[in-house]
Amino acid sequence: MKDRLEAIYRESREAVQKISNLKALEEIRVQILGRKGRLTALLHGLKDLPSEKRAAAGQAANEVKHQLLQLIEERVIKLKNSGWASDQEGSIDPTLPGRPPEMGRLHILNRTLREIEEIFTAMGFAVVEGPEVETDYYNFESMNFPTEHPARDMHDTFFISDKILLRTHTSPVQMRLMEEQSPPIRAIMPGKTYRVDDDATHSAMFHQVEGLLVDREVSFAELKEVLALFIHRIFGEKARLRFRPSFFPFTEPSAEVDMTCVKCAGRGCSLCKGTGWMEILGAGMVHPGVLRAGRIDPEAYTGFAFGMGVERIAMLKYGIDNIRYFFENDLRFLEQF
Ligand code: DAH
Repeated sequence: MKDRLEAIYRESREAVQKISNLKALEEIRVQILGRKGRLTALLHGLKDLPSEKRAAAGQAANEVKHQLLQLIEERVIKLKNSGWASDQEGSIDPTLPGRPPEMGRLHILNRTLREIEEIFTAMGFAVVEGPEVETDYYNFESMNFPTEHPARDMHDTFFISDKILLRTHTSPVQMRLMEEQSPPIRAIMPGKTYRVDDDATHSAMFHQVEGLLVDREVSFAELKEVLALFIHRIFGEKARLRFRPSFFPFTEPSAEVDMTCVKCAGRGCSLCKGTGWMEILGAGMVHPGVLRAGRIDPEAYTGFAFGMGVERIAMLKYGIDNIRYFFENDLRFLEQF
């Protein structure tokens, strides 16, 4: 009995000390102390001993059991601390490929904006920014908005005070630029804009890119050429353009620019409501009153301007049907680009 106990102890201790992973250690524990384990069997056998030997043998066996449990416990702690043990598959397999680090990427709106900027800078346009908190003067008055113009209504504009507001478009940056610089001026002006507006295609905060070119003898034909080049770059050479007469206070004449539907290429579908066309930006020749407010002589210079929504361009280009996706930061959306 004593010899068997000693053998179990010695062999078990050796086995435990050789083990280098938790799973194998657990197997050893079961082999010794499990329901069918060696030591368990020995403990069960105690009842067959003559009663005068039973007590001493039982004590010795329990002592060994206690020691082995302690050995195993110590080994578990050591393995866990060593960092080499794994609960699943034993030790580390260095031949496995590493886990690729998660790569961040530009938000799709920033990507679209950069693409727009690249196209225009390639044509010689500078990129200029202006403040998002604007005065009524720059946002409306200097841009030729009549005092009673509905855009000045509380329903469209976030007013901070009587004369201070969140800009409703990037057009005021045109004025700041004209005040600072004399012609030739050739710039685009990207940035955030704000309106009291909220549905599937409108958001209270959105992005615009404004364009302005002022020089001697600038013509509407040049405006058309620049915009055609831009739209072909961003939507492909097949896109066709159409200029519809329109009204903006700061341009005369003004136009809304449509392009053939991205989905049906002009045949007519649900996206373009059967027309084959989609509006993509506003443009026109800079109003003489606006040039004058910018201290530029309208007798000597002419210019064109345009303005577009970045979300709208991205929605058309990538087939996104709800503007909210841009701002919800849902990785399932963002990772698609
Ligand atoms: N500011 C206009 C808007 O927010 C867009 C626009 C139209 C800008 C015509 C222009 C332009 O520069 O010429 O709806």
